[in-house]
Amino acid sequence: MADLDTIVSLSKRRGFLFPSSEIYGGLGAVYDYGPLGVELKRNVRERWWNAMVREHDNVVGIDAAILMHPTVWKASGHVDAFSDPLIDDKASKRRYRADQLIEGHIEKLRKKGKDEQADAVYDRFVEALNADEPAPALGAIIQDEEIRSPDSGAFDWTEVRQFNLMFETATGALAEEANKIYLRPETAQGIFVHFKDVAETARQQVPFGIAQIGKAFRNEIVARQFIFRMREFEQMEMQYFVAPGSQMEAYEAWAETRMQWHANNGIRTEKLRWHDHEKLAHYADAAKDVQYEFPFGWNEIEGIHSRTDYDLSRHQEYSGKKLEYFDQASRERYIPYVVETSVGLDRTILMVLCDAYREEEVDGDTRTVLKFHPALAPFTAAVFPLVKKDGMPERAHEIEADLRKQFNVMYDESGAVGRRYRRQDEIGTPFCITVDGDTGEDGTVTVRERDSMEQDRIPAENVRRYIEDRIEG
Ligand code: GAP
Repeated sequence: MADLDTIVSLSKRRGFLFPSSEIYGGLGAVYDYGPLGVELKRNVRERWWNAMVREHDNVVGIDAAILMHPTVWKASGHVDAFSDPLIDDKASKRRYRADQLIEGHIEKLRKKGKDEQADAVYDRFVEALNADEPAPALGAIIQDEEIRSPDSGAFDWTEVRQFNLMFETATGALAEEANKIYLRPETAQGIFVHFKDVAETARQQVPFGIAQIGKAFRNEIVARQFIFRMREFEQMEMQYFVAPGSQMEAYEAWAETRMQWHANNGIRTEKLRWHDHEKLAHYADAAKDVQYEFPFGWNEIEGIHSRTDYDLSRHQEYSGKKLEYFDQASRERYIPYVVETSVGLDRTILMVLCDAYREEEVDGDTRTVLKFHPALAPFTAAVFPLVKKDGMPERAHEIEADLRKQFNVMYDESGAVGRRYRRQDEIGTPFCITVDGDTGEDGTVTVRERDSMEQDRIPAENVRRYIEDRIEG
C-alpha cells in the first residue's frame, strides 16, 4: 500500500485536494477540493444519498442549518462533555491526545509480543475512559508506563487537560456571552430537533429514518493525517427512530447494510473490519465502528450507535416541548429510541483514494493507477482522436458531447495514445474511447478498460450503453 505522503502528493498534483489558503501558508487541518476532488466527492455523496434515502421508503432527508440555538448543545451534552484529553510534551511544546498516546503504546506492546502487559494497560485504559474524570487517570497511565513523546522522545509531560472541541462564534454585533453560538460539531442534532416535524410532514411512522449530509466543525488539536481529521469536514448521518426494545435488531441490520455499502463502493473487504468501542457513552447500549486499514494503521471510518432515547429525552427536557410519539399499532406513547449511522464524507474520500491507489509493472514500466469504482471516478470516460486530422477530432467531439449527457467526460488529443492512457489511469478514469482510421469506415471505436487494460471494438453509438452496463455490473 502507498504511504500517506504519496496520496497527499498525488492529490495535490492532479487536483483532488489542496491545503486551504496555501498561498498564505495554509490553515491547519483545513483542505479544499480541486476539480477532480469535487467530482469524486459529489459521486460519493450521491451514492450515500441513493443508498440511504432513495432506496428506503422509510428514510427521508433534511438539510438543517449549521448554526443552531445554543441550548441545543447544552441539551446534547456537547457544551459539558465534548472534549479531548490533551497533554503537552514540555520539551518540543507539541500537543498530543492522551488517549491516542496510550493506544499507540498498547499497539507497540502487542507488536513486541508483550501481550500480558498490553492487556493490563488496556484494562486500565478502559477504566480510565469510563471514569467520571478521565484526565488524571489517563495521565497516571502515561506516567506509570513511561510513555515517551513520539517526536522528542522525552518523558517530560504536562498534566492531562480536557479541551472542548466546539468552535464558538457570536450572533449580532455584540460579542457578549448571551450571543455566543457554536458551529455544529455534528449534523445529528439538526435531525433530533426536527424529529416531530419530519414525522408529521413526511407522514412517517416509527420505525423510520432521517438522513442528512452537511458540514461539521471541530477544533481538532491533533490533526496530522491529511483529511482524516479535519477542522471543517462533512458528515453523512442517519438517525433511525424505533420503538423501545427493538433497537438491537435495527442496530444489527443497519450495521450490516453500512458495511455492505463500503464493499459496494469497491473497497477491498480485507481492509475493512468491525471495532467495538472501548467506552460506551453512558446513554448508549451498543456502539461499534467500521474501521479501514489506512497507511497509518486501522482507524475509524464510520460509527454505528444505539443511542437509546437519550437525545430526544434531553431535547424534550431542555426545550419543554413534548417529543413523544404515539404508536398507532401498539396504542402506546413513548420517546423513540435511536440507532445512528455516522460516516465522514472526507474520511471516506481518503479511504477511497488509499484503496484505489496502485503501482503496477506494465511492460517494464510502472503505471500509477487509481482503481476507483466506475460510479465514483471523477471522470467516467475520456475520448481521444488517434490523430488530429482526417475528421477524427470532430467525430471524437461528437461522441464526447453524447456521453456528456450522462457522464462526466474528458476530451484529450495531446501526445501519444499510450501517454494519454497513463494520464487517465493516474486519475482513475475507467474507460478511454479512441476514434481512429476505422471509425470513419465502419463506425466503430476502441474502448479501453482501465484495470484490465483490455480493448473492445464496438459501434460508436453503443458506447453510452456499454459504459452504463459496466457501471451497474
Ligand atoms: N453523530 C455522531 C458523531 O458525530 P463521531 O464518531 O464523532 O460521531 C462520526 O463522528 C464520523 O465523522 C467519524 O466516523 C468520521 O468518519 C467523521 N469525523 C469525525 N470527526 C472528524 C474530523 N475531525 N475530520 C474528518 N472526519 C471526521
